[in-house]
Amino acid sequence: MPFILETIIATRNADGSFHVRPYGLHRDGDEWIFLPFRPSPAIDNLARHPFLVASHPSDVRVLAGFLTGRSEWPLVPAETVDGVRLADTSGHMEMEVVGVEQDDVRPRFRCRVVHEVAHRAVTGFNRAQAAVLEAAILSTRLDRLPPDKIKDEIAYLKIAIDKCAGPQELEAWGWIIEKIGASVAL
Ligand SMILES: Cc1cc2nc3c(=O)[nH]c(=O)nc-3n(C[C@H](O)[C@H](O)[C@H](O)COP(=O)(O)O)c2cc1C
Repeated sequence: MPFILETIIATRNADGSFHVRPYGLHRDGDEWIFLPFRPSPAIDNLARHPFLVASHPSDVRVLAGFLTGRSEWPLVPAETVDGVRLADTSGHMEMEVVGVEQDDVRPRFRCRVVHEVAHRAVTGFNRAQAAVLEAAILSTRLDRLPPDKIKDEIAYLKIAIDKCAGPQELEAWGWIIEKIGASVAL
């Protein structure tokens, strides 16, 4: 299995606005593979404008927010491509698509980093942030996973929330639990 970096990806919409959502980037040597599931605006956007920007937030509310209709996170222009990054990010990568492997389910966009910036020191690991990340991913797979599995995983992840969460993680957790709870009895 490849190393997967969970990040926030921005692609340019036809009207010049930006589509921004969390996705994993698969590392392949010096390149990264972006694998959006169909259908996704990101797929159409990259066909028109083959550039994307990946931002690495340290606030997990950004991840949870984009999945729960809270997308008011400030964006600023990228430095070398026509794109945007999160204003509040520990680092970002500006990338060009250099190859596409088409697939009916999940096309593979091979991306080359054209510009990379570290904006501030990375603070290290936190279990509650990891728990929010896992719960956020679960919340996007509710139609593919059995309800019991979701319930069990949330109960386990909550241990880290109870022990290690700060205010941001608690808020993000609440948004994700509300989203999951609308479909699954937790
Ligand atoms: C940490 C994280 C990683 C994700 N990785 C992917 C991914 O690699 N591909 C994908 O299609 N969706 C991924 N998702 C789910 C998408 O963010 C979610 O389905 C979103 O609504 C997709 O928007 P779209 O349908 O506009 O592409 C991920 C979600 C999270 C929280």
